[in-house]
Amino acid sequence: MVVLVDDGDAAVRTAAEVITSAIRADPRLRLGLAAGTTPLPLYHDLIRLAREQGVDYSQLTIFSLDEYLDLPPQHPSRFGSFLRRHFLDQVNVAESGLRLLDAAGLDDGERTCGAYEAAIREAGGIDLQLLGIGRNGHLGFNEPGSSLASRTRPVALTSDTIDANRHLFPDGEAPQLAVTMGLGTILEAKRLVLLAFGETKSQAIAAALEGPITASVPASVLQLHPDVLVFLDEAAAAHLTRREYYRRAAALWKRSVRGSRGSENVRSSRFEVRS
Ligand code: GLP
Repeated sequence: MVVLVDDGDAAVRTAAEVITSAIRADPRLRLGLAAGTTPLPLYHDLIRLAREQGVDYSQLTIFSLDEYLDLPPQHPSRFGSFLRRHFLDQVNVAESGLRLLDAAGLDDGERTCGAYEAAIREAGGIDLQLLGIGRNGHLGFNEPGSSLASRTRPVALTSDTIDANRHLFPDGEAPQLAVTMGLGTILEAKRLVLLAFGETKSQAIAAALEGPITASVPASVLQLHPDVLVFLDEAAAAHLTRREYYRRAAALWKRSVRGSRGSENVRSSRFEVRS
């Protein structure tokens, strides 16, 4: 695991360079996206890089991490609409490459989730999965108590998550049900990139990265994955105890991906330094 603590803008720029480099290295990359406020600046930066440097998204296969189950199909807060509005509509993805997780309701949930697992398998797996983290340590909508081996499935949201989302639904009920990739599904992605910004994520980050691996903190499952890159700002990193070590390991990682010409840009899509 490589943990980079930086100011938010710099973290976003580095994450965007990592993803852009991965797309350049493999134009047919299978990329998993996450919704939520955290990745928004990253999507803005990816759009900017796509325009300035002509990054080609046309051959990518795009998966998504999770989706509400009890919102009307055209609701603007559905994660599929969110991802299209803030990212996908602004880069040259092919509609045929989109595999966004969605279900028509609880009755359709099980069937859809089984089909989603099959779609991931048929595509050959996910190369790079973006992740955020919930204040309660959830990954996707894998709430505390989720099996560390869980697969894509319908889930009930915890009251913590429903409350955290309530401000996004001022005119109606906050959703209570969702479909999510499982923790076992997420662990099968070849690389994981987690972003977390702000003090509200600091306890969850400390528990996930430095606490025991437990279903009570679903994001602690990241400790089982061999290739995780974590981007934090100072506020989100506030409760980490190994800060000095992360700083030195991150400096080594940055050197290793800078490329032989000494560019400041992240040119390689491989993460050479892990701990
Ligand atoms: C949400 C979603 C996750 C997201 C996380 C953090 O409820 N289920 O996919 O990564 O919680 O959201 P945000 O980035 O808005 O803080």
